[in-house]
Amino acid sequence: MDRIAIIGGARLEGEIVISGAKNSAIKLMAASLLTDQPLRLTNMPRLADTRFLGQLLRRLGTDIIEQDGDDGAETILHTREIVSAFAPYDLVRQMRASFNVLGPLIARTGHAKVSLPGGCTIGARPVDLHLEALRALGASIDLHEGYVYAQAPRGLIGAEIEFPFVSVGATEHVMLAAVLAKGETVLKNAAREPELGDLAECLNKMGAQVSGAGTSTIRIQGVDHLHGATHSVIPDRIETGTFALAAAMAGGEVRLTKTRSDFVETLLDKMVEAGVEVIRHNDGMTIKRNGARLKAVEIETDPYPGFATDLQAQFMALMTLADGESVIKETIFENRFMHAPELARLGADILVSGGEARVRGVETLEGAQVMATDLRASVSLVIAALAARGETVVSRVYHLDRGFERLEEKLGACGANVRRIAGTGEPED
Ligand code: UD1
Repeated sequence: MDRIAIIGGARLEGEIVISGAKNSAIKLMAASLLTDQPLRLTNMPRLADTRFLGQLLRRLGTDIIEQDGDDGAETILHTREIVSAFAPYDLVRQMRASFNVLGPLIARTGHAKVSLPGGCTIGARPVDLHLEALRALGASIDLHEGYVYAQAPRGLIGAEIEFPFVSVGATEHVMLAAVLAKGETVLKNAAREPELGDLAECLNKMGAQVSGAGTSTIRIQGVDHLHGATHSVIPDRIETGTFALAAAMAGGEVRLTKTRSDFVETLLDKMVEAGVEVIRHNDGMTIKRNGARLKAVEIETDPYPGFATDLQAQFMALMTLADGESVIKETIFENRFMHAPELARLGADILVSGGEARVRGVETLEGAQVMATDLRASVSLVIAALAARGETVVSRVYHLDRGFERLEEKLGACGANVRRIAGTGEPED
């Protein structure tokens, strides 16, 4: 398995072009199951997660062409017919959001057998809200031996669904099913993440009637069929925030382009509070830090537009060297501090108790061997390593490859001393 080695201390100077959003791309790919015409997605990120979903979609009957275009990499997905409505465990387990093929499969064919995704390292992550919502749309759902068996032979029927708490995945999943239901579906307490707006926009280009995406009430007027479309994936706000934090940690001046500062407002406010200089542009932002020590600030993760849980680990890395104590509250996932003991190996002083971490800033970090535990945690180790003395080697970087496109290349181009060490095939631990 590959590892990444970073020698800390280099300031970052230059430009980083942000890729299309992973969390949007994978839902848009699933939308291609809803039509027998081609869906062309541009500004696509090329990641392990999009590859995993591609494998599943091919099995279900989607032809996929990947090519380069004027708007970055593009993927053309064409599902003339669903040849199988079966999503096996081996493919769903690799990438949880693959579970979201269930709704489109029921909507298009009236039946599906899809593996439950199982837990993951950041928490139990159940799918009860997804299943309740699909039941509310009239699907009959049974669970046997780790699989969801769903039937709606006469089609899905619009309904009013109020989520007990905000779930990005469940909101997207119902949207993907309700676009082909009979009548109107109203989603209350819906997630407001930008990826929801992106999915709604793409579905509307395909002939759906979705309004209110981006607010907590979404209305979907069902239509009989959807057609092909071309859609550009929105910029990845988590990649944007991650590189903003990397620049702040290393010091220097980095311009992030092909992205949107309004997607990461809450993060940028916190960075400014900590002492980082942020200049917003039409196509992104510049992050500057002159080397003065940052101030500790507190954060609490929340659904959008709150502080993104997917940036919590990276922000914690920044706080390890800040002046004072930062309290970091995680309210979305119950087990999302696994990066804390790894950061401690670099010399960070972090006390975790329940859903809260207290980070007491230290003067210096020192390079060490560390292990990536999940996707966002892995990149927090890279960020910390950029400011650590000496060399840090991060193992299990397959986590990183799930969600960050050419990370070492993008950081390297700005002067970071980072290289990938190709794996020998031997297990690392
Ligand atoms: C999505 C993102 C992930 C991000 C998360 C929160 C993708 C592929 N992933 O994950 O990167 O960290 O949003 O912003 O887009 N829950 C239930 N029952 C359910 C569904 C969710 O209890 O049926 C819980 C989850 O365990 C979690 C919370 O609700 O504690 C929020 O999860 P959710 O918003 O659904 O996250 P995902 O869509 O899985």
